[in-house]
Amino acid sequence: MNRTHNNGELRLADVGKKVTLLGWVAKRRNLGSLVFIDLRDRYGITQIVCGDELTEAVRTVRSEYILEVTGTVVERQDKNPKMETGDIEIKAEKVVIINKAELPPFIIADESDALEETRLKYRYLDLRRPVLQKKLFTRAKIVKAMHEYLDANEFIEVETPVLAKSTPEGARDYLVPSRVHPGCFYALPQSPQQFKQLLMVAGFERYYQVARCFRDEDLRADRQLDFTQLDIETSFLSQDEILTLTEGLLKKVMKDVKNIDIETPFRRFKYVDAMNMYGSDKPDTRFEMKLQDLTDIFRNSEFKAFAEGLGPKGAIKAITTDHCENYSRKEQDKLTELAKKNGAKGLVVLKYENDTIEGSAAKFFTEEEKQALKEKLSLSNGDLIMIVSGEWRKTCAALGALRSHFGKTLHLYDPETFDFLWITEFPMFEWNEEDGRYYSEHHPFTRPMDEDLEYLDSDPERVRSYAYDVVLNGYELGGGSLRIYDCDMQQKIFELLSLTEEQIKDRFGFFIDALKYGTPPHGGLALGLDRVAMILTGSESLRDVIAFPKNANAKDPMSDAPDRVDEKQLEELHIRIVED
Ligand code: AMO
Repeated sequence: MNRTHNNGELRLADVGKKVTLLGWVAKRRNLGSLVFIDLRDRYGITQIVCGDELTEAVRTVRSEYILEVTGTVVERQDKNPKMETGDIEIKAEKVVIINKAELPPFIIADESDALEETRLKYRYLDLRRPVLQKKLFTRAKIVKAMHEYLDANEFIEVETPVLAKSTPEGARDYLVPSRVHPGCFYALPQSPQQFKQLLMVAGFERYYQVARCFRDEDLRADRQLDFTQLDIETSFLSQDEILTLTEGLLKKVMKDVKNIDIETPFRRFKYVDAMNMYGSDKPDTRFEMKLQDLTDIFRNSEFKAFAEGLGPKGAIKAITTDHCENYSRKEQDKLTELAKKNGAKGLVVLKYENDTIEGSAAKFFTEEEKQALKEKLSLSNGDLIMIVSGEWRKTCAALGALRSHFGKTLHLYDPETFDFLWITEFPMFEWNEEDGRYYSEHHPFTRPMDEDLEYLDSDPERVRSYAYDVVLNGYELGGGSLRIYDCDMQQKIFELLSLTEEQIKDRFGFFIDALKYGTPPHGGLALGLDRVAMILTGSESLRDVIAFPKNANAKDPMSDAPDRVDEKQLEELHIRIVED
């Protein structure tokens, strides 16, 4: 191949040069005796003009054929300011068809109305679209900045196994049957958590890895089955030092990738404050609309819906908006649905009109309650008021979901803003009603806060941990914690999580053993690389920044994975399929 230039680089200054370009045919138009071809490669698009003498050579050329074009750079009569190469075109002298292409199932251009299913089925064509290529280039740039930063800060990159033992990160494991050990399974790592801690026991002090993680959980726009973390672990650093180090990393990423100087240190919110203010442990702080607490006003209210749901650990909270004055009954019902979907038993919707509180619930309020409500919420005419009463966390979360809904639908934030923050002091445990036991809020290796150790036995729900999440624009970008480095404490936490002696020995025996051999105080975190890339490229879904993602149905429409396998393979693995 004699390529002299790429399709994104020729400018007016190059006029007169003889060049040879390679690329795919993005577009072909016949204009009288002239044929215009847009030639595309990863760098851009250049317009080619073929005169009379080439008509025969390009007669069969169609979209997505690969051509080698030799010609001269000339100034364009009708310049195209939207194209980087829009000032010039190539007057072709020779066109060679390098390869033909079938008619693609959709037009390969930034704007595509093809169904996502079709795009994923022909992902290799979808990935030819410049818009997607740009996103993957940005992703690569993010990873490069991360490598550079961690390298400069004395981190060592270590790979950990993919065929491993189950790690408890809260999702279901993907299991891989062992051929050699009938009836035994490897688990694909939900994260390299235990391995990175063992690397600290081994004395590496600063580890990182761009690590593939696997979690069998329900997919959402910001979740994939296999995804990538930038995984970090350090020894001898305080929580503050780990947060500062992470801020430095994200600062470099933002500068290198977006040329934006973000401010550090990031704002820090305690978990309980974030929930009280924003109804979320990953709040979008680009807009206000904070939750207001009405518990004191309505604690003894006659209104049954408030009193019943409350309980000793309950709360009554509200949000208001002045953007929805004309919300219909139907629109209000939709808000109720959303609140219920997020844990509320119901939603009280009121309007403030003509200086009075209106709505079916208002007739149950006393004059004092109405007055207190008006003052607390600083009501003005046109306000829509939404109130939830119930268990504290659910009440906050339901209103938090409404708040996010309004943020998005009413465009309450500037999409170009990047508002990083930390959430700290998470609760150590979460009670699961169904299973009647505690689960770790983060994971079982997280260290409880020193000042709460006294409640470990008496009131586990009161115990906070040294866990932290970094949040950006309403997404959890990453999370981590200081770890337990004392084997007795680790054993105790497993017990509080209702693991039997035998289960602890069987699943974590090797790990507890390791902690006995001189374990340094350590801690770290993992950033969701796909999520960082999604937000920095302004994408709506992780699928846009992953080359070959699964669809919402956990399938790869291109290769049809997951798929059935040969009977012989199953036999070797000692597996029999039971059809139901
Ligand atoms: P955690 O489970 O919070 O912590 O995960 C860290 C980050 O990984 C990303 N993430 C995901 N991204 C895409 N799809 C998913 N299904 C998915 N699940 C998680 C998120 C999240 O913040 N081992 C601990 C870290 C530690 O303690 O150091 C861990 O994995 O951005």
